[in-house]
Amino acid sequence: MYDKSQEIPIGSDHGGFELKQYLIENFSKKGYSFRDFGTYSEDSVDYPDFIHPVAININNGTNKFGIIICGSGQGASMTANKYPNVRAALCWDLEQAELTRLHNNANIISLPGRFLNSEVAEEMVKVFLDTDFEGGRHINRINKIPVSL
Ligand code: RB5
Repeated sequence: MYDKSQEIPIGSDHGGFELKQYLIENFSKKGYSFRDFGTYSEDSVDYPDFIHPVAININNGTNKFGIIICGSGQGASMTANKYPNVRAALCWDLEQAELTRLHNNANIISLPGRFLNSEVAEEMVKVFLDTDFEGGRHINRINKIPVSL
């Protein structure tokens, strides 16, 4: 469970810039704090440059939950999931945002900025942060995700 003393790292490319700004503005009003890793305008950029810093902070335990956004949410989640302690979930509705916390103990929510209504995305982030991992049978499952090649 998230509590408001925790900083949330957030990053996006240009495809997620507008939604990132919306989320920071609206959640900040409610007392949430963010570490904004950019991007800082709608100029075209490469999404990994803004997703890696978020993933690094989750991977090394600095922060518990992160938010990443690109146009589709796909490239962002692919990038973040390269880190062994990251479980980044691409979510497109409220149910997915809740389920991935309950079952996958996801620690990053990846949002498709070009496909989501801002108010729905806000609700999704709220549910994601407020939902606890169910544990139980799901513990073994998430423990089987990492690979050593
Ligand atoms: C940028 O045009 C777009 O490719 C990017 O935001 C993302 O959707 C990649 O997965």
